[in-house]
Amino acid sequence: MHYDIAIIGGGPGGYAAAIYASKKQAKVALIEKGELGGTCLNKGCIPTKTLIHSAKLLQDIKGARGFGIIADDVDIDWNVIQKNTACTVKNLKKGVENLLKVNGVEVFQGLAKLRDQNTIKISYETEQKTITAENIILATGSAPITIPIPGHKLQNVITSDEALFMEKLPSSMLIIGGGVVGLEIGYIYNTFGVEITIVEMLSTILPSQDEEISKELRKHMEKQGIKIYTDAKVKEIKEKENILQTFFETKEGIKTVDSEKVLVATGRKPVVDVFIDTGLNINKTGIVINDYLQTNIDNIYAIGDVTGKSMLAHVASHQGLVAVKNVLGEKRKMDYGVIPSCIYTNPEVAMVGMTEQEAKAKYNDNIIIGRFPYTASGKAMTIGERNGFVKIIAEPRYNEILGVHIIGPQATELIAEAALAIKLECTAEELANTIHAHPTLSETVMEAAFDLLEEPVHKI
Ligand code: NAI
Repeated sequence: MHYDIAIIGGGPGGYAAAIYASKKQAKVALIEKGELGGTCLNKGCIPTKTLIHSAKLLQDIKGARGFGIIADDVDIDWNVIQKNTACTVKNLKKGVENLLKVNGVEVFQGLAKLRDQNTIKISYETEQKTITAENIILATGSAPITIPIPGHKLQNVITSDEALFMEKLPSSMLIIGGGVVGLEIGYIYNTFGVEITIVEMLSTILPSQDEEISKELRKHMEKQGIKIYTDAKVKEIKEKENILQTFFETKEGIKTVDSEKVLVATGRKPVVDVFIDTGLNINKTGIVINDYLQTNIDNIYAIGDVTGKSMLAHVASHQGLVAVKNVLGEKRKMDYGVIPSCIYTNPEVAMVGMTEQEAKAKYNDNIIIGRFPYTASGKAMTIGERNGFVKIIAEPRYNEILGVHIIGPQATELIAEAALAIKLECTAEELANTIHAHPTLSETVMEAAFDLLEEPVHKI
């Protein structure tokens, strides 16, 4: 049982690396202690986006009368929504299992521990196995952070691990953290009629996003009935007759909100427990790696959330491919310069490149911004989704695009063009002079580029 590459962790980082390495003729072992597909497939991206599809469908049906479609007495069946989510996860997992199988990856179920830099011990129930490998890739992912406040262990205080698979809908939920997890889960449950309160410690929701976009999203979420507190730090959770009371400090003093559930969505931490005392260099953010994704031990690489670089599934998968290339002798640096990030609320949010704040800091406030509102888009008008705008930021010398921020329908799809534009060091002229099909939402990106050049046609 000797392999060219052994990969610990079967999430989107680990399984993508395994399949890619196998296609490159390497002999590969993949070890997973839980479910193949990791957080993304089982407890993250996929179940969330399936639930979000049901939520959006409900909103669309409720708004259908204006389009001449009469669908009164619309209701939801939470059991079917949950079954559909489980079914989507199951089918995708079968797909991953099949891909691993047909590509000849040997999958081991169990908890892997490093014995030395070439030896892995695998434990599953009472069974123990030992395998060896020339190279090892660590891809053990991350887990939700819990906050050490009184009451954080109460039964109805949950994390995203439990929030997506609840047997019945609660009447109310307070969410600690106005980041991506808090906002997506808040959007889902609010749409299904759950009273949602979001409590964010910093002065804005989505603090890492462009400020203008965060403000716009907050406006829409509040309009949908979500209560949001910012500059608010949770101090304690108490339980009184099956109701949770959350106490948080605001500028106006301590406030209390009662709810059936409290969701802690305050970030994630790398899963490194099995690597303590192995000689690997580990710090607060995760396993330390160089540009080639190599740890301090030459033949051991690390990818994905466990490296704490950028906790996104698509970054993990890309790191997986880069790590395999390096293992196989093709020296390749990991480039974190162009990473799109998407938030699946309604309206959707997507960004790539620099925020306005970052661009101003880098270019001494000397930047150019173009904007285009969805209200001026023909396609947005036809589908009745006119909230939001596209914002493009460029530097003044060549009008090279530095950042693109979109809030509005299909933002998460539109961002791919912007990512390619930034990757290819595209200028606003090149983007504006690329003919975009009409009528499409993609025209909003082209129009924002024209606005940046002060040549807007469809904008006053
Ligand atoms: P996050 O780091 O995005 O947001 C956590 C928020 O909680 C921050 O705004 C922080 O200021 C706030 N916070 C921390 N402690 C607090 C306290 N005591 N009281 C009030 N607020 C507090 O973390 P999140 O949302 O849990 O997401 C984890 C990771 O998963 C992120 O890296 C995210 O990008 C990723 N993710 C990506 C998704 C996507 O691509 N659509 C979906 C979900 C998660």
